[in-house]
Amino acid sequence: MKPGDLVQNFKSHFNAKPNFIVRAPGRVNLIGEHTDYNDGFVLPMAIDREVWIALHPRADSTVRIASLDIGTESAFELHSLTPGKGWTEYPKGVASSLMNAGYKLKGFDAVMTGDVPRGAGLSSSAAVELAVARAFACSSGLDWDAVTMAKLAQKAEIEWVGVNSGIMDQMASAVCREGFALFLDCRSLEFQHAPLPKEVSFVILDTSTRRGLVGSAYNERHSQCEEAARWFGVKALRDVEEKEIGELALSRVEGWGVEGGLSEVAFKRARHIITENTRVLAAVQAMKVGDVKRLGELFNASHDSLRDDFEVTNDALNIIVACARGQEGCYGARMTGAGFGGCAVALVAEDKVTAFTQTLSAAYRQRSGLEAAVYVCKASAGAGVVSLEEYDKL
Ligand code: GLA
Repeated sequence: MKPGDLVQNFKSHFNAKPNFIVRAPGRVNLIGEHTDYNDGFVLPMAIDREVWIALHPRADSTVRIASLDIGTESAFELHSLTPGKGWTEYPKGVASSLMNAGYKLKGFDAVMTGDVPRGAGLSSSAAVELAVARAFACSSGLDWDAVTMAKLAQKAEIEWVGVNSGIMDQMASAVCREGFALFLDCRSLEFQHAPLPKEVSFVILDTSTRRGLVGSAYNERHSQCEEAARWFGVKALRDVEEKEIGELALSRVEGWGVEGGLSEVAFKRARHIITENTRVLAAVQAMKVGDVKRLGELFNASHDSLRDDFEVTNDALNIIVACARGQEGCYGARMTGAGFGGCAVALVAEDKVTAFTQTLSAAYRQRSGLEAAVYVCKASAGAGVVSLEEYDKL
C-alpha cells in the first residue's frame, strides 16, 4: 500500500528531495507457529501492509529518522550507539548488527511511515528492521543479500531488543515473492516460494487486543522448548518424530508429567511443536494439490494446539476464531504470530469474503463486546527499493 505523502513530508522535514525510497512488508503466518526457534518449518506470507522510508544519504555518521506515525524525530550517531527505549531501538539494533558484521555504514536523513498494525502479530518490528537495513544498503552502497540481511535483523532483535525470536519474520519480510507464500526450513534456511491456492482469500482478523509483556512470555516458551529438547536428547524439537510424542502421551501420568523428569508443561509445549511441524508439511502438500478443505482443517488443528498445548491464545483470539469458523465459506481459522492477543487468519472462499467480513464483525462484537478490524490481504514482495518514478506512478 503506497503511503500518501512520503516525498512531500520528506521535503517539509529536510528541505530537500529524497534520493531513495525503500519498503519492507509485514507478514501473516499461514501455519507453523513457534516452530522457527525449534529449527522447524513455517509458511508465512508477506502482506501489503508495509513500512516505507524515504531517505537522503549524509556524508557523516548521523542517522536522523522522523516517524510520521508516532510524530517524533530521533537521531543517533553510528559510532556511539547506546541502548534506550522506544521505536528507535530497532534502527539502532540494525545499525549495530550490520556494523558488527563488518559493514561500513554512512548516516542518512529519513522519514518513515507504515501501516502494519503494531503488536498485532503481523511483524511490524521485522518490517521496520528490514526497511532500515534496506535504507543503510542505499546510503552506504552495500550489496543486498536478502538472507544475510534477514539474519542480521534477527540478531538485532535478539541482541539489542532482547526478544529471543526465531528467523521467520525477518525471512518473510526479506525474501517473499509477490503472489506466493514462503515455505521455509528454519534450520537450513532453504526455502521455496509456494503458490497460493486459487479461489480462496486469507483474511486477517484483528481482535483489537494487544499483547502485553510479550517478551517475557515468549522467552519463557523458548526456554520450555529447550528444556524438552534436552530431555529428548536432541539439538532441537525439530528432531523428534511425531510417533515418539504419541508414545509418551500414552505412558505419562496426566497432570504429573513424564516419568524421568519431563514436566507436564514442557511435554505439552513439545507436543505442539512436533505436531505443528507435521501440519506445516501437510499444509504445503494441501496447497500443492489445491485441497483447501484439508488446509482449513490444518488451520483449525493448529489453533487448537496453540490454545491447549502451547497456551498462547487469549479469550479474544479464541472467540474470533470460533466466530470465523461459524461463517459460511470459512474453511478454517487460527491465531497467527506470537499470540497473547493480536490477529487470527481465516481461509475463506473468495466469493464469500464480503459477506464473511460483515457477519464476522457483528458476531465478534456480540460475543466479545470488541470491534474487530478485518483485512483481506495480498501476498506481497520482500524488502525492496522503489525508484522515485515508480513511486510517483503508484
Ligand atoms: C514472533 C517471532 C517469530 C515466531 C513467531 C511465532 O513473531 O518473532 O520468530 O517465533 O512469533 O511463530
